[in-house]
Amino acid sequence: MHSDQISIPVLTIDGPSGSGKGTISRAVSERLGWHFLDSGALYRAVGLAASWADIAFDDVESLARCAIETDVRFVDRPGDDPLVLINGRDASSELRTETCGAAASAIAAIPEVRTALVDKQRSFRQPPGLVADGRDMGTVIFPDAEFKVFLTASAEIRAERRYKQLKQKGFEVTLSALLREIVARDARDAGRAVAPLRAATDAVHIDATGLGIGEVVERVLELIRHGR
Ligand code: C5P
Repeated sequence: MHSDQISIPVLTIDGPSGSGKGTISRAVSERLGWHFLDSGALYRAVGLAASWADIAFDDVESLARCAIETDVRFVDRPGDDPLVLINGRDASSELRTETCGAAASAIAAIPEVRTALVDKQRSFRQPPGLVADGRDMGTVIFPDAEFKVFLTASAEIRAERRYKQLKQKGFEVTLSALLREIVARDARDAGRAVAPLRAATDAVHIDATGLGIGEVVERVLELIRHGR
């Protein structure tokens, strides 16, 4: 990290899949006028690029190279999720599938892949500030972040949210299968040896189970305005 980057404020929002991190992080970044890092999209992009290139998930060397070489670009679209271009190809919809999430979770457990993505993630720290969404933003990538949130919600609520999102995008999914997949992905993310999903010791915990998006956004903004 460049020393002048250290003074740029960062808000990290970590938590399990489907906790609403993405929606909340994006909304907060828009309200603050800060940049936004969707680190999960980077892992998903590497998983997808590896599958396009027929790289086996146990071929660590090729996966690490794929993580370094894959060009991922986010193009903002007003009122919609950003377009995600992987090596110039629009993969925005494909990236959101649970198959892609599972592939991301598998390659994300490989230390060499994580190392390959560290600088890429830190390069998003630009003025006037950054909201970083992921699993290890507050623990590994931006341990010095001034503001840290750990966002959770019950697995049932998270599966329902994913179900609605995927149905809306036209994917054929069932709630019970999604719940199974989410529970399995959480266990893998929390149980892995490197950068497991866990809250930073200085993170503020928010349980979004009974809360609407707007309420969570306000709580996070409150944290920024007044400290913890
Ligand atoms: O957040 P999202 O569901 O898009 O992330 C997909 C997968 O990428 C996660 O299940 C996790 O395994 C991995 N990931 C990670 N570290 C991050 C972000 C995502 O390991 N910072």
